[in-house]
Amino acid sequence: MSKPVTILAIESSCDETSCAISRDGWILSNVIAGQTIHEQYGGVVPELASRAHIQHIVPVVDAALKKAGCDTKDLTAIAFTQSPGLIGSLLVGSEFAKSLALALDIPLLAVHHMQAHVLANLIPNDMSSPTPTSPSSIPPFPFLCLTVSGGHTQIVLCHSPLNMEVIGETLDDAAGEAFDKSAKLLGLPYPGGPLIDKYARDGNPARFSFPEPQIPGLNFSFSGLKTSILYFLQDNSAKDPDFIQTNLSDVCASIQARIVSILLNKLKKAARQTGIKDCCIAGGVSANSGLRKAFRELGEKEGWRTFIPAFEYCTDNAAMIAITGHYKYLAGEFAPLSVSASARAEW
Ligand code: KG4
Ligand code: ZN
Repeated sequence: MSKPVTILAIESSCDETSCAISRDGWILSNVIAGQTIHEQYGGVVPELASRAHIQHIVPVVDAALKKAGCDTKDLTAIAFTQSPGLIGSLLVGSEFAKSLALALDIPLLAVHHMQAHVLANLIPNDMSSPTPTSPSSIPPFPFLCLTVSGGHTQIVLCHSPLNMEVIGETLDDAAGEAFDKSAKLLGLPYPGGPLIDKYARDGNPARFSFPEPQIPGLNFSFSGLKTSILYFLQDNSAKDPDFIQTNLSDVCASIQARIVSILLNKLKKAARQTGIKDCCIAGGVSANSGLRKAFRELGEKEGWRTFIPAFEYCTDNAAMIAITGHYKYLAGEFAPLSVSASARAEW
């Protein structure tokens, strides 16, 4: 029997320090240390994020190895997020990964964060199963993925694990930013996306109507929505200073409904244009309960098979870096030790 492929993966692109261990594409552990320090500043402070990564990286890697029941001598390769992200944060993970690969004399795998979000859909969803996951839980190629995170909004056409094409993207703000900036206007702390989701559950999404931008093709725009929400809140708060407080759930539900409809209308268009009926969502905003529900409903109407990563693999995590690293390892796509982190990189 050939030796299993055991990968240690590190994700540190923004404000989560995460380490995962995979064996033959199965996730054995996925440890995430978040950073609450940014809440008081209303957004991620890059220098504070880098410092927190430095504090967290050793204990997080140690915990991931222990949880997986692994020793460093069991490792086949080290994967890490190379790009995109905050450069100081990326540097902590990339230099740690390079040092570990050098010390253990094993290959290094440089992973693109957005590609990894897409491939979170290929993580087997039943870790206890002794047999491979049923084919229905993993999307077959080619498939479409709506990737919605704090910095990106993309429709990706995936031909194979390492061959992906961005066929639509945002021209300004990302969907996550639209959630977070709306939340800020409502006086909610950062990151506001999960809070809008929470309040929206008790609200009426049809109570207030926000405009849908008319952007040609498969691209998105969210900056107009943000401006219309700002004016809407200013006007109503001028008439009633308690407007936000008394209508928070309905406002959140209405904002969320509009963001979701902007996203799904473009995905529907992409599916009709390409004729592809296997569709996924990925990225932090795919944790949104309204998007998950509306995506499933649209899939049923359109005759798609729909796929959503397990909740813990939607927001930033190292398991998605491990699965991408796994496919890179199988393809022999190794990185030299001279590889450097990059804040922005096309793919
Ligand atoms: O993918 P991610 O964890 O990090 C980036 O790569 O950016 O995405 C973070 C984004 C943030 O904007 C956050 O507010 C949003 O995902 N987010 C949500 C929810 N959970 C996370 N937005 C709406 N509803 C949620 N439940
Ligand atoms: Zn991300």
